[in-house]
Amino acid sequence: MTPRIWHPFTQLRDFEPLGRVVGATGAWLHLADGRRVLDGISSWWVNIHGHSHPKIVAAITAQAAAFDQVILADFEHAPAIELTRRLVERLPGDLNHVFYSDNGSTAVEVAIKLAWQFQLQRGEHRPRLVAFEGAYHGDTLGAMRVGARDLFTAPFEGLLGPTTRLPWDDADAAEAFFATHGHEVCAFIVEPLLQGVAGMRVGRPDQLARIDAAVHKAGALLIADEVATGFGRTGTFWACEQAGIVPDLLAMSKGITGGTLPLGATACREELFRAFLGPDKRSAFLHGHSYCGNPITAAAALASLDLFEEERTLDRVAAISARYAAHAPAFAALPGVRGVRWLGGVFAFDLAGGPGGYLDPIGRRLQAAALQHGLYVRPLGDVAYLMPPFCVTEAELDQALHTLAACTQQVVTASPPAAV
Ligand SMILES: Cc1ncc(COP(=O)(O)O)c(C=O)c1O
Repeated sequence: MTPRIWHPFTQLRDFEPLGRVVGATGAWLHLADGRRVLDGISSWWVNIHGHSHPKIVAAITAQAAAFDQVILADFEHAPAIELTRRLVERLPGDLNHVFYSDNGSTAVEVAIKLAWQFQLQRGEHRPRLVAFEGAYHGDTLGAMRVGARDLFTAPFEGLLGPTTRLPWDDADAAEAFFATHGHEVCAFIVEPLLQGVAGMRVGRPDQLARIDAAVHKAGALLIADEVATGFGRTGTFWACEQAGIVPDLLAMSKGITGGTLPLGATACREELFRAFLGPDKRSAFLHGHSYCGNPITAAAALASLDLFEEERTLDRVAAISARYAAHAPAFAALPGVRGVRWLGGVFAFDLAGGPGGYLDPIGRRLQAAALQHGLYVRPLGDVAYLMPPFCVTEAELDQALHTLAACTQQVVTASPPAAV
């Protein structure tokens, strides 16, 4: 038997990888056959400052030489202390306690468990979890429970508990629901301003602000899943800033280390933290991961935060957005293109004419066409998007947008091939 990688989200029967990566610098992936392709999705939305940024590489190297993983249950160390301080400096309101885990899904799991235990410990019977229709919060069981039920979750239905769904970005619906059922709700988990996996749906800050007010009026908690939106992806450091809200819990991951190492973190407000203080372990948060607060990932995250200041990263995101605005009319004029939209470093549009949805083969055709021209994209079925590292230059970005437009035109006008 040949040893084989089990690739994520992939049907492996007839699978051939798109290439073998042998290097990655800036916004580019270098392949074994000599091709170089622009990383148009920041390697699953994680990369920010470019691949193998020397400052982050140096920080990782220095920390690995000083000391590597140490248990966080009984010890503390400077990288975790300093990272907590720097994150809290950036976080809105009194989100001042940070629990570390390993990825976006675990950051969400921690948020849900903290919310649940908090309600119990203050003596509230609040059995409902609420989420938006179309939500995606990760692939562990708790995260799937609050995510949309679709082909990804179907086999696991029997493992998941109930979740109340509200329409995306609809403050009227949320206000009506919370006025009647708010007292039953433990927490409402939201992807602020951008539902990524659902198809890069852009939300409005005023709706989010009203939803936040309705949730809090009902004494429920708001969990902001900033795993995809955090670290500048929507134009501000956190998407919540644009709505002027302070969630009770904020889950982060992806961009936290600049896209170099896996790290998840969940921040919570002072009041929530205090409810876990007590005379013995029963009121403590009895949850942990072997690699909690890993010093090497913390060092990478600290270097990434430095780069936000040194390289004026948010200005770069604004410049990226400006290029999107300049190119948008050309996309909107293409046949078969609908709903051109952008937010911060994300540009997206829908490809009409096919069966629609995640299994629409048009996305794979667009990916193949773009790759031939040196651009790596990974459409979500009939939703095409571009989300490059923020280090992308204006010339590289213009080229990527021209390529994307040309390849879109090619695939929407070509006769549809057999389903993938
Ligand atoms: C909003 C959101 N939450 C959670 C996750 C899960 O993160 P991870 O893949 O690191 O587990 C994702 C991943 O795409 C996401 O977009």
